[in-house]
Order: sequence, then C-alpha cells, then structure tokens
Amino acid sequence: MAVATTDPVRLPPAPRIPRLLQGVGFVAAREKSVAALARRYGSAFTLRLPIFGDTIVVSDPALIKDLFTTNTDLVGRAGVLGEMFGPGSTFSLDGTEHRERRKLLVPPFHGKRMASYEGIIEEEVLRETASWPEGREFETMPSMMRITLNAILRTVFGAEGAALDELRELLPGMVLHASRLAVMPPFVRRDLGPWSPGGKLTANRERYDCAIRRLIAAIRNDPKFDERNDVLTLMLQARYEDGSPITDDHVADELLTLLAAGHETTATTLAWTIERLRRHPRLLARLTAEVEAGGTDLVQATIWEVQRTRPVINGTARMAKTRIRLGEWVIPERHAVLASISLAHAAEDSFADAKAFNPDRFMGNAPDNYAWIPYGGGVRRCIGAAFANMEMNVTLRTLLREFEFGTTYARGEGLHSRGVATAPAHGGRAVAYRRTRKTAAPADQTQRVSA
Ligand code: HEM
Repeated sequence: MAVATTDPVRLPPAPRIPRLLQGVGFVAAREKSVAALARRYGSAFTLRLPIFGDTIVVSDPALIKDLFTTNTDLVGRAGVLGEMFGPGSTFSLDGTEHRERRKLLVPPFHGKRMASYEGIIEEEVLRETASWPEGREFETMPSMMRITLNAILRTVFGAEGAALDELRELLPGMVLHASRLAVMPPFVRRDLGPWSPGGKLTANRERYDCAIRRLIAAIRNDPKFDERNDVLTLMLQARYEDGSPITDDHVADELLTLLAAGHETTATTLAWTIERLRRHPRLLARLTAEVEAGGTDLVQATIWEVQRTRPVINGTARMAKTRIRLGEWVIPERHAVLASISLAHAAEDSFADAKAFNPDRFMGNAPDNYAWIPYGGGVRRCIGAAFANMEMNVTLRTLLREFEFGTTYARGEGLHSRGVATAPAHGGRAVAYRRTRKTAAPADQTQRVSA
C-alpha cells in the first residue's frame, strides 16, 4: 500500500506537449492517446490536463494493488460522479461515511442472494428478444439497455406496474444526459434556466424525486414488506450501528447511483459479448454446446475475457489526500491517480498474447484481482459486480439457448464513448435465428453456427 511521506515530489514522466493539446487529445481520443503514452513511457506516466489538473496514470498490477489497498486517510474518492447523484450517493461519500454506507449496501448485493434474481433476468431477456428480427442484421445495444434497465428497476428498485412504467420512461434519458455532463467541465452543469443543460438536469431530478417518494411510500405500505426481496426494501430495513436508517433522500440518491452505475455498464458489456462472439465461430459453437449440456465454465470465462479485452469503464481514480509514496513515485496532495483498466488489461506481462480474444486463458484459472480490474478494487470496488456477473451469465445462456447467431468476417467494431461507458461503435450488431424456427442463413459473409 502507499504510505504518507515528506520526500520531495517525484512524478512519473509527462509528455512535453502543451497542457491544452493534451486535454484535447484526451477528450477526443481518450483510449488512443493513453495507449500511445503507455507505449512511450511504460506503466506509469503523468497527464497534464486543463481543468482536471495533473493526473498520474498507472497500469502495473503492483502499483494498482498499492493504490487500491491504501488507507482511506491517505487516498479518497475522485471525480464528479457524486455531484450528479446527490450527497447521499456512495460516489459522494468518503472515509467513515463511505465505509458505513458500504456495510449496509454490500449484503443486499452478496453473490448468494443474486441467484434469487435469475428468474427475473431470464424473463426480461425472453420478453425483449421476442421481437428480435429473424435473419436480419440489427443493433443489440438498445435491447441490452432495455434488459438491464428493467432488471435493475425490478430487482433493485422493486418497481412494478405504474411505478415501473414511469421510471422506465424517465430514467434512460436522465442518466444519459447526466453521464454526458459528468465528463464535461463543471460550468456546463450549472443551472442557467430550463433550456440549459444544467437546467434540464434539475428538472429531471425533480421528476425523479417525486416518483421515488411515491415508490418508497407504496413499499412501506406493502402488507408483505417483511418478505420483499428487492434491494430498495433491504435498504429501507437496514440500520447503521447507532440504529438510524438511511434517510429517504439518501435512498433516492443511492438508487439513482445504482441504476446509473449498473445499467449502461452491463448493457455495453453484453453488446460487446455479441460483437466478439460473432467473430469467433468456434468459440460460439463450444459455448452453445456447453449451454445445451447445462455447463457454465466457458460462459464465465468468456464474460471475463470480454471484460478484459473490451472494458467498458476505462479507468478509476483516487485522490491523494496528502503527499504519498506509490512505488518509486512521490505524489503530492490533491493529485488524482488513475488506475487505467484498459492499459492493465492490455499488458503482455499479465496476459500472454494480450491482444488475442481467448477465453481459454481463464478456464480453470480465475482472473487476478489486480491485473484484471473491470470492477476496480479495494474499498471502492464495484458493489454490483456479482449482480452484473449473474445478469450477464443468465442473459448469455438464455440467448445461446434461444438463438443461433450468424458469424461474420467483418472487422471488429471500434470504440464509441457514450460519456462514461465505452460501447461498440455500431451497437453490437447481430444476426439471430430462432432455434425453433429454422430458416436458411443468407449467403453473404454471415454463416450460421450450431454446436
Ligand atoms: C459490467 C458491469 C459493471 C462494471 C464494468 C462496473 C464497473 C465499476 C467500476 C470500475 C467502479 C469503480 C470501482 C473503483 O473505483 O474501484 C464501480 C463502482 C460502483 N459500481 Fe459498478 N460496474 C458494473 C455494474 C454495476 C452494477 C450492476 C451495480 C449496481 C446495481 C453497480 C454499482 C456500483 C456502485 C454503487 C459503485 C460505487 C462503489 C463505491 O464507490 O464504493 N455497478 N463499478
């Protein structure tokens, strides 16, 4: 772990390009510019960005482990995401408050509890794919967004009926708007009236708060309150060590956080999974055979490898609260350190033939906690990791059971930044054939794959 120090500052090397140009490069081609700097400077370098300031980028597993395991008195939360969700969001909390909130939030997301949600996920996948076109190429991203939205609204928010419809209509646009503003300079988020981006943020939030107040009241009045299984109910039942509940305002902030953190990330990973499988026919056939035989090892390894090669969150940052020593570097107070997920996953030292998409690397060999970090790590590691994994596993198994997918020789889809998450540039296009209704595959580049 990193330690506090009074040694002179020693930052990793920084490119000599002017700050403004570095900022333009970072915003315009975040992944490419960071990869180019890693090629030049190795696993630690300093980015000099306008507005955001100096940011130290690390990708070596030993440095990442040091960063993630450092005492929270020395490093804390970084970034503006909390601002988007309110003071009661996990993203806004730090130190003791953050630790106490996580104690209440982690149990509802425990791996074993997740199995109880599998039926809902399967139901959502079947409902969404009922309208998939037969044998015609289409983007899977919108479908994946609807599946993961409905999954969270039903299992986490516990919403059904009119409340579900209202939130389903309001939240996607609201979260997309907020996540676009999250990566812009702070002045863009200021409320300058109803037509300004900041004004729209406020109006969305007011509508959301009304809807959540009604939902909380309905759940409290549910005669079966004690038997309910959704995360919202568990949050309402939870008590801090002093016996106090999470306030309703904080519950509203936290629900929005869970939705924003868990909806698009899982959907984009699923769209990438389809994008990858279409280009790996032999793997697709092996997966289909595994699912038919009731297995899940290769499905799991495939999800891990999709997350390694196409991480949807590129990095996660911590802010130094004091001067710290991290490996050979001495980082001053109030400097952000970014653990680069994409660089860590592309490292040959951690993953032989790292560019290759090869789920077999994880067969019988679970990923290392600090080389494979799609969910970050340490005390801020993603709360929903087990939820996301369960959801992707059930979705992939259901899709493979219900459909044959056409494969393609087309180049892989490029990266498209949606604000916070990185999605396949063409929406994760697929050609699907329902297993029960056999139709001939078209004679172009697409071919059917079955086990
Ligand atoms: C494939 C899907 C997902 C990916 C790739 C992902 C990734 C991440 C990452 C990188 C972080 C930052 C961790 C760190 O700083 O160390 C994070 C935090 C978080 N995620 Fe996820 N996430 C996913 C799904 C979910 C889901 C389904 C939920 C909840 C329903 C969720 C809730 C959260 C929360 C609340 C945090 C903040 C944790 C904290 O600051 O203590 N995520 N996630």
